[in-house]
Amino acid sequence: MQYGYFDDDAREYVITRPDTPYPWINYLGCNDFYGLFSNTSGGYCFYRDARMLRLTRYRYNNVPTDVGGRYFYLRDSKDGDVWSPSWMPMKSKLDRYECRHGMGYSRIASARNGLCFSQTSFVPLGDKCEVHKVTLTNESKAEKNIDIFSFIEFCLWNANDDMTNFQRNFSIGEVEVHGSSIYHKTEYRERRNHYAVWAVNEPVAGFDTDRQTFLGLYNGFDSPQVVFDGKSKNSVASGWAPIGSHHIKVKLKAGESKAYVFVLGFCENPEDQKWEKPAAPGSAGVINKKPANALLEKYSTAEAADKALAALNEYWKNLLSKFTVDAEDKKMARMAGIWNQYQCMVTFNMSRSASYFESGIGRGMGFRDSNQDLLGFVHLIPERARERILDIAATQFPDGSAYHQYQPLTKRGNNDIGSGFNDDPLWLIFGVASYIKETGDYSILDEKVPFDNNEAIADTLFAHLKKSFYYPVLNAGPHGLPLIGRADWNDCLNLNCFSKTPGESFQTTANYESGVAESILIAAIFAFVGPDFVEICKRTNRNEEVAAAEKAIANMIDAVNKHGWDGDWFLRAYDAHGKKIGSKECEDGKIYIESNGFSVMAGIGLEDGRAAKALDSVKEHLDSPYGIVLLQPAYKDYHIELGEVSSYPPGYKENAGIFCHNNPWVTIAETKLGRGTRAFETYTKICPAYREDDSDLRRMEPYVYAQMVAGKDAVNHGEAKNSWLTGTAAWTFVSITQYILGVRPVFDGLLIDPCIPSSMKGYSVTRHFRGADYHVKVDNSAGVEKGVKSVTLDGKPLDGNLLPVFGDGKVHQVVVVMG
Ligand code: GLC
Ligand code: GLC
Repeated sequence: MQYGYFDDDAREYVITRPDTPYPWINYLGCNDFYGLFSNTSGGYCFYRDARMLRLTRYRYNNVPTDVGGRYFYLRDSKDGDVWSPSWMPMKSKLDRYECRHGMGYSRIASARNGLCFSQTSFVPLGDKCEVHKVTLTNESKAEKNIDIFSFIEFCLWNANDDMTNFQRNFSIGEVEVHGSSIYHKTEYRERRNHYAVWAVNEPVAGFDTDRQTFLGLYNGFDSPQVVFDGKSKNSVASGWAPIGSHHIKVKLKAGESKAYVFVLGFCENPEDQKWEKPAAPGSAGVINKKPANALLEKYSTAEAADKALAALNEYWKNLLSKFTVDAEDKKMARMAGIWNQYQCMVTFNMSRSASYFESGIGRGMGFRDSNQDLLGFVHLIPERARERILDIAATQFPDGSAYHQYQPLTKRGNNDIGSGFNDDPLWLIFGVASYIKETGDYSILDEKVPFDNNEAIADTLFAHLKKSFYYPVLNAGPHGLPLIGRADWNDCLNLNCFSKTPGESFQTTANYESGVAESILIAAIFAFVGPDFVEICKRTNRNEEVAAAEKAIANMIDAVNKHGWDGDWFLRAYDAHGKKIGSKECEDGKIYIESNGFSVMAGIGLEDGRAAKALDSVKEHLDSPYGIVLLQPAYKDYHIELGEVSSYPPGYKENAGIFCHNNPWVTIAETKLGRGTRAFETYTKICPAYREDDSDLRRMEPYVYAQMVAGKDAVNHGEAKNSWLTGTAAWTFVSITQYILGVRPVFDGLLIDPCIPSSMKGYSVTRHFRGADYHVKVDNSAGVEKGVKSVTLDGKPLDGNLLPVFGDGKVHQVVVVMG
């Protein structure tokens, strides 16, 4: 069944009941201040780094799930009726409920006994805060006297320490309260120059900042004592758990409506201007509130909040105008035109750090992940993609290998994870090539970029790419295939790990550096991105590089042909003993998806029928109604020589789960073969909008991709997990827009090369590209799957199917007839 519906005109998903099969969330913020916001107002926010600068606390894996957020409690003073207008945390009975998740904002609206509540939450452009505009409307015939209690729980900044180091933390919490503003200033007395402010634009009747006082020691968020009492206690936290709660008394005549603007902000002061009044013996320091005052002044009226929201709407309208699609298939159109791009922005911003499955205290920005996330984002804001590429490249080592992750705050490589994932270097070429194809900006190649964040050994970005290119060539194994290192794209194929110790990290442990284990996937990635490296050399007059690079690519393809083909599909790898992985000789894990998708994407086996055979085998052995599983048969037991892939119960994650990220590789590969119907089928199977009415099984949000859907060996086949932060977002955007709908940026322009189901009669796409707009109308009345018969550009026939770069700020009309 469905728990809501898409409102495409508003670009919103409308959730119509609060008890969704899992919290269905949204992301607020698009630059540096972010909030996670669930359909019952759960979640938390942070500035730039979800671990280091967390403003509000969140308890993961809690019971019930999703407790903690920015809550408002309402109390009717007539009868003492108390409720949560966002349903949680009290699970209050509501006469009406609706949550609209939109582009960077969410709105919860509900009603109980004639009192209507609405909360619009967003992060305004350019400011480091969340704004929550709360409106109460009296829909009854009688006057109402309502108490509003706000509630947030502060995090003591470092979210990891906050959840573990109680012997210290219970003694350090500090706040200040002035009027309607509550300031959280823990650790400001020492090395922090920042504090948080939680304020409302209305005089308050009272406040609380001490959690125990507000809730009562043995009460949960669902039974706050102060709310039941109808009166704040004006508690000032000293240690323990600082919170922020305002109490506002509202008198509403019949039909009357009042709005309040709550702001939760992050404020910073220069070191020498930290204090309004420094601490003196016997009195605590008073923080300098200048930045807070400026922020609160900005959002001091409901009109100002509305204006900021309108600006945010305009921002998104403009961003999403860069790629739009109109088609009979509304599910595809809304995903490609709205939600997929929106998710790409979120994955670009978050990498894999903060979601309802990633705690925000673990992982930083991934080298390979961020390079792939660029794909679906670069057309939206190319300048930010450019900056990201340079940040990522700066964490590369002089030999071309790379830190697997880096910290968003410091932009430094993460020593805990280290390097040795031998696919990493290649994704940099991939990211840069995508950037150049989108923008035509070759100047990025001349940027001076440090190696290992060390300015002393900086070199051009091109020099980085060259190191990347030769890394797998110089680090090849006995079959001339790239050594896998700790793992390749599949983090769980740990062929040098040999771990027997419980809890040992599969990714960072190498008990047996074989120097033998090889990856056919890395070879295929090399064959796919290598030609782009060659093109880049040619286009920047580095012709002396070309011959050697072409030879390296040819050799690599040769190695795949000789040692990477298993008869009916591509092998996956050779293990530390030189044994095949992903072969019919294996008992389990006979066939893997990744090497098959990527080899065909790279064009290997296209001429001699092996490509088609490989994809047919993928269909025969790996397909399911919910997508293509990663491998078959699932590993039944732990294999020390394979590592984490065999650690998962069958059907989950890399052990034969539907690991959605690699499904679009098969989609793209199918378009290489011109099989549009099958390509589209593989697209729709993992696309959430097509599974909206199956939400009880799928459980995750119907508007975003999930990293994994349980595979056919799992008990709950079809159940999704790990929504939002996944490379699936970027790759499906590429597969649907560039390879199915076939509007593909290439070095010299926009290539038009659709590959669609024969039943799709046509569609239109608008694409902003290098300073001009292309309106592309595709006519497939011929009912073919691939092939362009004619292209008309601005009324004139075009030779071929490459739209030139105009850069003239104009709109160009393109009519494409397939056949
Ligand atoms: C996770 C990682 C990604 C990896 C994938 C497959 O999504 O973020 O880097 O490629 O798992 O293991
Ligand atoms: C686990 C997950 C994988 C992820 C990796 C790194 O291995 O299965 O998907 O990429 O952890 O965090």
